[in-house]
Amino acid sequence: MDIPIRRANAADFDAVAELDGASFGFQYSGDELTDALTIIDPERFFIATDGERIVGVTGDYPFTMTVPGGALDVPGVTWVSVDATYRRRGILRELMQRQLTDYREQGVPAAILTASEGGIYGRFGYGAASRVRKTVLDRRRVKLVRPGEAGAVTRATTAQARELIPAIHDRWRAQTPGALNRTDAWWDLLCLDREYQRNGMSGLFFLLHDDGFVSYRIKSDWGDGDPRHLCWIVDYVIASPEAHSALWQVLLGLDLVGTIESFRIPIDDPLPLVVNDARQVQTKHVGDGVWVRPLDVPAMLSARRYAIELDTVIEVVDDLFGDGRYWLRGGPDAATCTPTDRAADVVLDAAALGSVYLGGSRLEALARAGAVGGDDPRRIARLDRALLADREPVHGTAF
Ligand SMILES: CC(C)(COP(=O)(O)OP(=O)(O)OC[C@H]1O[C@@H](n2cnc3c(N)ncnc32)[C@H](O)[C@@H]1OP(=O)(O)O)[C@@H](O)C(=O)NCCC(=O)NCCS
Repeated sequence: MDIPIRRANAADFDAVAELDGASFGFQYSGDELTDALTIIDPERFFIATDGERIVGVTGDYPFTMTVPGGALDVPGVTWVSVDATYRRRGILRELMQRQLTDYREQGVPAAILTASEGGIYGRFGYGAASRVRKTVLDRRRVKLVRPGEAGAVTRATTAQARELIPAIHDRWRAQTPGALNRTDAWWDLLCLDREYQRNGMSGLFFLLHDDGFVSYRIKSDWGDGDPRHLCWIVDYVIASPEAHSALWQVLLGLDLVGTIESFRIPIDDPLPLVVNDARQVQTKHVGDGVWVRPLDVPAMLSARRYAIELDTVIEVVDDLFGDGRYWLRGGPDAATCTPTDRAADVVLDAAALGSVYLGGSRLEALARAGAVGGDDPRRIARLDRALLADREPVHGTAF
């Protein structure tokens, strides 16, 4: 069957949304689609068509992503879906090839995405570069060892928060590898706080500190006289130890709340280190966060900095765009990366490079898994240490 792929336009979007909703198991309401279109440029989307019918889609949002020591402009691939009656005939593969080829032609250094399922994107050269966890804690069993300054925290309405939190988010983002920027339109959308954004919970509440903020929703549970509401943390943006202890002082004092839960508390968050019982800060699930697909290796590797001085040749095996060898010289203050004919010290595929790029995954572990080659293990070990970031990467924005 001939399924041509073309760029979408605004007139396609009702049908695109119908397909995307059906693929993910919901229907867009009029409001939801109008709101979604405030951050969407339909011309950044590709669609697969069977006659008049739209049967597949992929699109992106433009982001700036923090990388260790720098930042990179990357498309965040989104709205990927193929009609249930057209699946497993290679339509996703065609869409991915078209989109990635288009990025290459535009000189895009790398693409990113978050995956609905873990088994889909490795074959297209995406590697999982950060992890998210679900944190659960019983508020009544946890105390800060050294109380934080609750008086430094203000409870703000959504309208007040909308004015103040973008600047705090920018400060947090600058210190967090993987963190994504939010445009004004993006902030406006999040702060609409419509019913469909609430997932059966309350509207947003905001706690603000000069150096951080937390937003949360409450799901009430009066527990037959033993109140145990759920506090679901939506945004967790904390840029200093003072903000951390002050915001947790307030969160742990939310009477009537039983459990605090979130997907946003980073894996290396200091919370277990500042409470009376670290075991109460439970990790219920760890999964992949953001995936990175290298496209212009010299551009992406020279955009970040490295933990130690480095002079090495990397060969990147790329089934879609052909293999390449790159001479990477870098350190904490500068980096250059250029194509080269010199012999490779370290050989890895595009997905493996994507997964170590933000400094949160270990090249050493990939080598033990047989996914990284090289004659001299000391060269792999040095690159491994050079790639590591000071912090766990966190993308922080669902897309
Ligand atoms: C995921 C989805 C887009 C796949 O579309 P598709 O057109 O059926 O995919 P293709 O036929 O092009 O498959 C390409 C390859 O991916 C594999 N694949 C497809 N869906 C997969 C899945 N859910 N899990 C693992 N592998 C998958 C295929 O087996 C095929 O493998 P190959 O390397 O042997 O060729 C489609 O099933 C879908 O819309 N799912 C629901 C929405 C969703 O989860 N979208 C992804 C959002 S991140």
